[in-house]
Amino acid sequence: MKKRFDKTYKIISNKEICAGYFELKVKADAQIVKVCNPGQFFMISAPEVFLRRPISIHNAENGVISFLYKVVGKGTKTLSKMQSGEISMLGPLGNGYPISRSELVSESAVKSFPVIVAGGTGIASVHFLAVKLKNKGTLYYGAKTKKDLLCLDKFKKAGWKIIVSTEDGSKGLKGFITDALKEKLGERSGEPGNKPLPGCRAAGLPNFRLYVCGPTPMMKAVFKIAKESNISGYASLEEKMACGIGNCQGCAVKVSGKTKMTCKDGPVFKIEEIEI
Ligand SMILES: Cc1cc2nc3c(=O)[nH]c(=O)nc-3n(C[C@H](O)[C@H](O)[C@H](O)COP(=O)(O)OP(=O)(O)OC[C@H]3O[C@@H](n4cnc5c(N)ncnc54)[C@H](O)[C@@H]3O)c2cc1C
Ligand code: FES
Repeated sequence: MKKRFDKTYKIISNKEICAGYFELKVKADAQIVKVCNPGQFFMISAPEVFLRRPISIHNAENGVISFLYKVVGKGTKTLSKMQSGEISMLGPLGNGYPISRSELVSESAVKSFPVIVAGGTGIASVHFLAVKLKNKGTLYYGAKTKKDLLCLDKFKKAGWKIIVSTEDGSKGLKGFITDALKEKLGERSGEPGNKPLPGCRAAGLPNFRLYVCGPTPMMKAVFKIAKESNISGYASLEEKMACGIGNCQGCAVKVSGKTKMTCKDGPVFKIEEIEI
């Protein structure tokens, strides 16, 4: 069983990085940071809020675990008011992305080209993946408007090519990010020799691997595109959770015709197996 810890952490900072979005940083022991993997999450407590709330690991390094979250309701609002002191968290939880040791260590060992597709706060969890994958690819990132686009500088710094879209056209392409993805993959399939997407650093690598996190309509559109283009990959689901450890059955999803718990069996599943 994967190691998890139920303990309190010292808050280093909990800053509003832009309107309605906060980045929480907590001090953590090296042994905890070491077992944090991309795609995993913590159940975070806020004072006087009944259930803990699931928030993905945004980054974990040098004795610090960070989380990026949007204030949407009581739990996250209360959390955003915690500026100092201790915070109780359970984690790391969930399976995380199945990244092989070679994908984390050496570019040359990797035979796939990663394409991350993120929508809304889905960007929070895929950042840790983008940092950890040694082979950098392209991030497709869609948001409602310019002010909802987060972390672009961090992805750039991590070596990723970025394609953004906003629904109102205030930055990047106008419309849904899935339109841009479809267009690029369409171009690719028409090319002889299955050339990689523009921006692929590891030119010549023929295989794409998709990593997806975002709102359900976006994920559904990506799954359709993946199926049409015969591309495999993984998606992280963000179902509502109460316990986070498989006890309440509150986060059930259908995967390959079977009922799975998003918190315990996921939140990351193979794209082609998810039934949403
Ligand atoms: C694995 C995972 C990772 C996530 N990562 C992030 C992230 O990195 N950043 C981010 O911004 N958001 C993330 N989310 C979404 C985040 O958890 C929600 O936005 C947050 O829980 C909302 O809480 P709230 O109280 O502010 O909002 P509300 O919408 O008010 O809270 C949700 C309400 O639903 C109730 N509830 C929750 N689960 C259940 C249940 N199973 N049964 C009954 N009632 C329930 C809560 O008690 C609460 O009242 C993630 C979600 C998941 C599942
Ligand atoms: S949140 Fe309780 S079983 Fe998943």
